[in-house]
Amino acid sequence: MQHEPPSSVHYNRIVTSRPERIYLDHAATTPLDPRVLEAMMPYLTAAWGNPSSLYAEAQDARRGLDSARAAIAGILGCRPNDLIVTAGGSESNNLALRGAAWAARRAGRGDHIITSAIEHHAVLHTTERLEQDGFRVTYLGVDSEGFIDIGQLQDAVGDDTILVSIMYVNNEVGTVQPLANAVRAVKEKNPKAVFHTDAVQAAGMIDLDVDSLGVDLLSLAAHKFYGPKGAGALYVRPRTPLLPQQLGGTQEKSRRAGTENVAGVVGMATALQLAHDEFGSRTAHYRELRDRLLVGVPERVPNVRVTGPLPSSAHPEALEGEGRAANNASFCFEYIEGEPILIALDLAGVACSSGSACTTGSLEPSHVLTAMGVPDDLARGSMRLTVGASNTSDQIDYFLETLPGIVSRLRSLSPTWPERARS
Ligand SMILES: Cc1ncc(COP(=O)(O)O)c(C=O)c1O
Repeated sequence: MQHEPPSSVHYNRIVTSRPERIYLDHAATTPLDPRVLEAMMPYLTAAWGNPSSLYAEAQDARRGLDSARAAIAGILGCRPNDLIVTAGGSESNNLALRGAAWAARRAGRGDHIITSAIEHHAVLHTTERLEQDGFRVTYLGVDSEGFIDIGQLQDAVGDDTILVSIMYVNNEVGTVQPLANAVRAVKEKNPKAVFHTDAVQAAGMIDLDVDSLGVDLLSLAAHKFYGPKGAGALYVRPRTPLLPQQLGGTQEKSRRAGTENVAGVVGMATALQLAHDEFGSRTAHYRELRDRLLVGVPERVPNVRVTGPLPSSAHPEALEGEGRAANNASFCFEYIEGEPILIALDLAGVACSSGSACTTGSLEPSHVLTAMGVPDDLARGSMRLTVGASNTSDQIDYFLETLPGIVSRLRSLSPTWPERARS
């Protein structure tokens, strides 16, 4: 029988044939760090055994998995056994929320869940499903910069509150929640309430020590910090009740069935270690580029609003302290929609997003911006830029030179643009 040539020939052509591009969408995903690929390679080639088996081939894979787990645990400040490896952020969030909610219901502890209105859909769609299953869910509002109110959170906690899920860093506008304070406020009122955080956008941007944060459950996804796609982790504080959601074998101490993605987990550990070791230089680089965007876009384009908190580094009049992810600059443009701007930028060689990648293609305004009180019309003109390790000042200059022409061309076609009537 004749076989097709290996499809890698096709993939290689896709990856290598692009002219130089400017990638400003690192919150959607990041390229694989070549050092991460190098660390993964032995587990994609020589050490291909099933880590649950007993023979020599398996033991190489087991050792790789164990040392990767230990490295991740070292960075989070937990024990290796406190980690469940998953297939990414969505799975970690699903496992955390459903696992904790159903374990609490089974123990007769209550049915009340608290989350925020600006969570990723991996959390919101899961809480919606839990509502259909009879759980009660409180959705906390946020202020105009995307911050929850800790007093409001504490007021919402009752004796029957079983679970609170508040994201650490927002994926659209970069708001960094005061997480340790939020956990303290919840535990003061109800020490038994389980606290989960979606830290998918926080890894590499901010410290993830689970004891300083006080969280019981924390979700990660490797592809957001230069690791591979399809690898993630859920931290589970010892004695946190959690019902497994994927059934089958006894992997991950029977908390998540299925043969582990050994190469993926090794890649995730290597990427997290690199993010940890290079934390200072990387975040300083992101911040410098981000601030040039936060200042440069409104300077060059009229009728633009920065969304999310203004960092004091970019706006000296803003409050001291960060409150915003080092890599995120997001905006709303009046009188035009975000999507045509993105298409025009793509043609000009720049990749960016209109909010979360999951809502791209939909004309609905982002739920995050709506919750922050941005009017629907303005929210439809949203753009998210997230910088990364390989971006340069020259690339930001090019972007800042290219954007104003695109916006004014699109506005000249917009029926709502007031200048149009005058031209
Ligand atoms: C905050 C947040 N949570 C969860 C996810 C889902 O992660 P994954 O794509 O790895 O399933 C994302 C991805 O965009 C995210 O930004």
